[in-house]
Amino acid sequence: MNLNRKVVKDDKNSIRSFVLRGGRLTNLQKNAIEKYGKKYCLPFTSRILQVEEVFQNTNPLIVEIGFGMGVTTSIIAETFPENNYLGIEVFESGIGRLLHEINARSLKNIRILRFNAVDVLQDMIQNNSITGFHIFFPDPWPKKKHHKRRLIQKDFIVIMLEKLIPGGYIYSVTDWTHYAEWMLEEFNQVEGLINISKTGYCEPVKWRPSTKFEQKGLDKNHTIHEIWYEKS
Ligand SMILES: C[S@@+](CC[C@H](N)C(=O)[O-])C[C@H]1O[C@@H](n2cnc3c(N)ncnc32)[C@H](O)[C@@H]1O
Repeated sequence: MNLNRKVVKDDKNSIRSFVLRGGRLTNLQKNAIEKYGKKYCLPFTSRILQVEEVFQNTNPLIVEIGFGMGVTTSIIAETFPENNYLGIEVFESGIGRLLHEINARSLKNIRILRFNAVDVLQDMIQNNSITGFHIFFPDPWPKKKHHKRRLIQKDFIVIMLEKLIPGGYIYSVTDWTHYAEWMLEEFNQVEGLINISKTGYCEPVKWRPSTKFEQKGLDKNHTIHEIWYEKS
């Protein structure tokens, strides 16, 4: 199976928060895509995803955006079999790696979509249907001229809010202090979301395993900021 080549719609106004990373696939990643891609990867379409049909149950759906290598995603999905997880990522190697983990851990509650998350949310996700969003170590785009490429910005937060059920959450983590401060400013501009922490940053969430990009940040002595908002 080949993963779809096209990962964005032709809409020039859509946020482009990623650069397509190339690199050769390892044999493990290539084999996993060939063997399990068809079963666990969903195609991008402009129709609302029939979640019950896909997962064959009505369990809560959590969406993770930019799962990177996906090891964290697979550990969380294994820990909470009572939830469904939709991982959205454009990085082919990462998709291969997550497919490998899904098979190795016999997970039934994950599906993957290789496309720009902004388009996926807008076109495929029903309003008021998502229990939570996970966004771990999104690309920081540190230069000022690139800030418009940051995934977490007001317009995208409004889209996520529409998709959340009442009480649903957006959980985001970054090791870039400036991006963390920016996130709080952007979140606070959106009505209908409540920050669960008085200081802005919440305590480290115990069930979140560390990620590759978290380790890179820690190696540079960056502080990890965790942010959790809920739909009122
Ligand atoms: C800095 S990496 C972090 C990966 C992983 N969460 C971790 O902590 O190791 C950010 C990831 O988000 C993905 N990404 C960024 N914007 C995206 C978007 N709009 N749609 C899908 N994936 C996106 C990138 O391809 C990249 O793999």
